[in-house]
Parts: sequence; structure tokens; C-alpha cells
Amino acid sequence: MRIFSGVRPTGDVHIGNYLGAIKQWVKLQEKNECIFCIVDLHAITTPYKKEQLQKNILETTVTYLAAGLNPEKSIIFVQSQIKEHSELAWLLGTIIPVGELQRMTQFKEKTKKHPKYVNAGLLNYPVLMAADILLYQTQLVPVGKDQQQHVELTRTIARRFNQQFGKTFKLPQTLLSKTGAKIMSLQNPTKKMSKTGNPRGCIGLFDKPGIIKSKVMAAVTDTGKEIVYNPQKKPGISNLLTIYSLFSEKPIKQLETEFKDQDYVDFKESLVKVLIKSLEPLRQKRKELLDREVYVNEILNQGKRKAEIIAQSTIKEVKKNMGLL
Ligand code: TRP
Repeated sequence: MRIFSGVRPTGDVHIGNYLGAIKQWVKLQEKNECIFCIVDLHAITTPYKKEQLQKNILETTVTYLAAGLNPEKSIIFVQSQIKEHSELAWLLGTIIPVGELQRMTQFKEKTKKHPKYVNAGLLNYPVLMAADILLYQTQLVPVGKDQQQHVELTRTIARRFNQQFGKTFKLPQTLLSKTGAKIMSLQNPTKKMSKTGNPRGCIGLFDKPGIIKSKVMAAVTDTGKEIVYNPQKKPGISNLLTIYSLFSEKPIKQLETEFKDQDYVDFKESLVKVLIKSLEPLRQKRKELLDREVYVNEILNQGKRKAEIIAQSTIKEVKKNMGLL
């Protein structure tokens, strides 16, 4: 299968991002043709600092490489380096009614969040995303639930284009993260783990062992002392069980049995060990890569060269079918 996904170049990621997306991508690259794109052109549709952008692109690349994306197996590149993304977005923009873009959930949300920054790029965000996906004749798009509507719009655009101009695009499908497990804040287990929430509730993918330990040991737990999974009655311990299970790859049921006669502190101490064992190699790898900027940029260049071949061939076909060639 040909797989495409995009990631916005924002700085640090937490274990929720890792378990929800990155870990799945690392697995997918084993049996599929994967293309992962750092979407800097999408990033500039909301307020950003131009001085930070290149640093964030490097940081994001390093994060994904450290987490296990393998440039021998996957294509990794930066969106703005391949001009066909913008070009196809323009062409697709001519077959999509403005009303459909105005109705997109993310557009409405971002409009509310940045009322002084409602630019045409923000409205056209889903068209650029459709261009990203269709440019590579993508079959599967692994994304979170919040991006599902955009993939559906992409299908609509592809279908319409094929009807109007003849079969040109494959219709992509959404691949929702299958764990479905939401990782919650360690400080408020009814809220999603997030960089912008309480920092003590959020474990960064590259947190040092000491930091991981102090955050886990201070995690909010529930009344009682049994280690059992019950998100309604015991949101705190259930969240920790989920994290434990996903990192150790042991089913929650098995963990409940294993910790049957132990208390919260025993369980937390064990979780700290599991987390450090899983994350320490990633932290070391990131450190190494950050010292090898030339090498990382070479990976992005190589990705660009490979992606470009596919992108150029699609855009040629599109222009021909639209009567532009
Ligand atoms: N919009 C996606 C997000 O915010 C990022 C993205 C851009 C993307 N282009 C894509 C995801 C193409 C999947 C496929 O997360």
C-alpha cells in the first residue's frame, strides 16, 4: 500500500503523540511504501515565528528519526521543497466550492481561535492537504479523528476531478489510529495530555529519566488501592495502565493480574522503569542526530528527490487532463 501522512513542524512531542501516531507509522513502514511530509506550508496558515520555522523543521525531522522512522524504508521530506504541492492545490482549488471549505470544522475552530488571522490560506488548508495526498496516488492516510473530515473532502475532490476530467486520482482511505486509546494528563486524567496543559501532567518523548520519575510518582491516582482498569471510576490508574500496556505491549488484563497484590507506589515504580527503558534510546538518538545537522538535511534532500519523481509525474497527468498541456 502507498501511505502518506503529514506532520506540522511544531517543537516537542509527548508520549500521547508518540503512542497515537508516530509508533504506528514506524510499524507501517515495514510492509508499505510510506511517505511522510513535514507540512511547513500548512504551518504558516496560523500565527508563527519565522525565526523558529527552520529550527522546528529540523527538530521534527530528528524527532521522527529518533522514534524509528527509517529513511531507507520511508520517504521523509519537507512540503515547501516540492513546488508541485502548491501547484496542485491551486488546480484543485478551482473545482471546490468556497461554501464547502467554509463549512469545515477545523476552519471554523481556527477562525474562532485566531479571529484576526483568517487568511485565505487557512480557508484553503484542506485543498493543500488534498493536494499532498493526491499528488502521490495515496491509498491510505493514517491520521487522528480530527483530520478525518479532511481526508473525506480529499476523496470528494478526487471523485469530482475524475468525473470532470477523466480518471486521474486514486481514492485514498483514512486509517484511524487503531489503539484508539487517548492518553490523558497525569494531573487531570479526564483531560487529554497536552503540551499546553499542566506541564507536570505531560511526559515529553525526550524527558530525562529523573523528570519521568518525578512526573509519574506525582501522577494523580484514585481512591482505593487496587490496580484495576475502570476509566469512569478510576480515571487516574486506568490512564497509567493504558500507558503501561502500550509501552510494554502487555495487555491490560495481564497487568491487572501481575499487580494484583501491589499498591499504587509499586505500580508507579514499575511504570517508571518501563518508560525509561523505552524512551532512553530515543532520547540518546535524538541527541546524536541534533549534532549531525548535515546528515539530517541530507536525509531530507534524498526524500525530496524521491518524492519529486512521483509528484512531477502526477502533476503532468493532471495538467494534461485539464487541458493545460
Ligand atoms: N492537517 C494535518 C494535521 O494537522 C497535517 C497534514 C497536512 C496531513 N497534510 C496532510 C495529514 C496529508 C495527512 C495527510 O495534522
